[in-house]
Amino acid sequence: MDIETARTRTGQLRAEIERANEAYYIRQDPTMSDAEWDALFDELTRLEKEFPSLVTPDSPTQRVGALRAVSSDFRPVRHSLPMLSLAKANTVEEVAEWDTRIRRMLGIDRAAPLRYTCEPKYDGLSVELVYRAGRLETGSTRGDGFVGEDVTPNLRTLGSIPARLPAEAAPPLVEVRGEVYMPIDAFRQLNRGLEAEGKPVFANPRNSAAGSLRQKDPEITRARPLEFVAHGLGRTEELSTRTHSEGLASLRRLALPVTESRSAASLEDIALFYKEMLDRRDRTPYEMDGIVVKVDDLHLQDDLGWVSRSPRWAIAWKFPPVQRRSRILRIMPSLGRTGKITPFAELEPVVLSGARVKLASLFNIDEIRRKDIREGDIALVQRGGEVIPNVVRVYPEERPPQGLPEWQMPERCPACGAAVERLEGEVDFYCTGARCPVQLVQRLFHFGSRGALDITGLGEKTIQQLVQADLVHDFGDLFTLTRAQLLGLERMGEKSADNLLAAIARAKDQPVARLVYGLGIRHVGETVAETLVRALPRLEDLAAANEQRLREVHGIGPVVAKSVAAFFANADTRDVMAKLRAAGVRTEDTAASQAAQPLAGKTFVLTGTFESYSREALKALLTRRGGKVAASVSKKTDYVVAGADPGSKLDKAKQLNRPILDEAGLERLLEEVPGGA
Ligand code: IVH
Repeated sequence: MDIETARTRTGQLRAEIERANEAYYIRQDPTMSDAEWDALFDELTRLEKEFPSLVTPDSPTQRVGALRAVSSDFRPVRHSLPMLSLAKANTVEEVAEWDTRIRRMLGIDRAAPLRYTCEPKYDGLSVELVYRAGRLETGSTRGDGFVGEDVTPNLRTLGSIPARLPAEAAPPLVEVRGEVYMPIDAFRQLNRGLEAEGKPVFANPRNSAAGSLRQKDPEITRARPLEFVAHGLGRTEELSTRTHSEGLASLRRLALPVTESRSAASLEDIALFYKEMLDRRDRTPYEMDGIVVKVDDLHLQDDLGWVSRSPRWAIAWKFPPVQRRSRILRIMPSLGRTGKITPFAELEPVVLSGARVKLASLFNIDEIRRKDIREGDIALVQRGGEVIPNVVRVYPEERPPQGLPEWQMPERCPACGAAVERLEGEVDFYCTGARCPVQLVQRLFHFGSRGALDITGLGEKTIQQLVQADLVHDFGDLFTLTRAQLLGLERMGEKSADNLLAAIARAKDQPVARLVYGLGIRHVGETVAETLVRALPRLEDLAAANEQRLREVHGIGPVVAKSVAAFFANADTRDVMAKLRAAGVRTEDTAASQAAQPLAGKTFVLTGTFESYSREALKALLTRRGGKVAASVSKKTDYVVAGADPGSKLDKAKQLNRPILDEAGLERLLEEVPGGA
């Protein structure tokens, strides 16, 4: 198949799949069988694989939740019923409102009974297990709710997920939904191990569960202590249940690990369960972030239906964040890879939801002043989703009678002694030392991190040694490291050295967006890096783009544009770019180049004057999309664009039989080839 035919076909397939999805999920009135849908999806996947330039970000094959970067590692699987999320309540009043709302919708009086099931809300990631004839056929992540990732081999390694269901009880089909989580102790142990190996640690048990499950190599998953607990059903055959609690009971009969649950007949019952769980929270071996309340009767569930991806028949009543009192022993400045100096507090150790914490973030000096946080204060610390808690407030009334001194930002960088400055209009302070070793270590660490060039084995300790031994001064130097140099480092064995060299060699071929993210430009996270590379797929062009050009990129604002332009304008950066190119690091995104340069190889000749464009603007419009603008017409001219009062070029075009576009024709052409940002 040639690319034009493929382009037409992928367009048709996407439209058909979208229509079918809408019928299936929104109108709940399917227009085709699952097998037909699968065939369309497979054909689209195949074509996109063969013609990568045809992949569009909104293609149904691409919509696997927020899991972008690595989503391609797993096959997409469609959930036969969408995996929804939950509406949230923070207070008992909000739960009461929910109760009133659904009673009104169902026409059930306030005094009449309405049965609910209450369960803990596990803080993990939801998965679906499909058992056919008692055998585990597919296991997938939630993805965007409609299409998830096939992680069957990984899920098979979990001890709590049976490969087979008891033959006598197993129905022909049962889709089990539940949560994969990592127990808190196991999470802490895993992080200690990662830290010892100089690898990045996980921020919380949920991230570590997700990271451990979504591994290319199932053997890594096997080594991670993951648990599974079922909390619902998807589609089933020959498993008749009238209520959610009956569903849980049948899951128990199938010997699956099932969530604990309690029936509730009133708001008081629900509140009691909430309170009990909240009291138990510190003693449970896993993270719980609230309770889930579900209408038990499945017919009533159907009547209630769902709105914007959440069922009306369930609600998550969240726990408040965990808070504890502790003393601030010291306030210390810490230095990040951008040179930003962030103060943090060293605490008298406290246990917060199972984790022993010794540090709290203080964010910036304004925050310290606003909350009047001082060394020696008693503080209320709170843990949100992250490992490092923050300080909610201090208790000035508990200070010693002579008071406590205000903390001051140091005037010199604690690592290199360079001056510390506050940038205009910003709350943060920065080290101004261009060769600050701590910054260098941090930046190299970021460069090799998972979301960037993913250089396994490039831990913080190794980087410190490389910097200290004067072997690495910038990103570029990593690529010319030799085996002998690595072996010269303390505690570096032959195997580790070879592995590290191999990881560095692999890094050369990472997508350009990861490289750009890895450069650690201020304000450029993973998404911004992708946006930049989509518009300017060659690193050379990105580096050459001035602030004005960057601001023209859709999705890039003035702050990012300024930061990117300043980064590449720096002479040191240019050196590093040259080193990267010399080392053979990939610096062009070919797929994006094709998409961004749809007019590549096309030559235009302009003649006459145009109504809506100046000559220069038109030229820029065409060259930005990869087109070339030539001065005179020849056989090689692809299009002559003629405005008012055209010159002899138009005659020449007619003579050579070259296609002629008027202004409207040109606009149509440009519409067909958006690109060029
Ligand atoms: S029921 C439509 N039950 O919470 C019903 N979900 O915020 C959705 N979760 O994606 C699932 N514990 O991953 C349900 N006992 C429980 C749960 C639970 C944790 C997760 C689940 C879901 C998320 C929604």
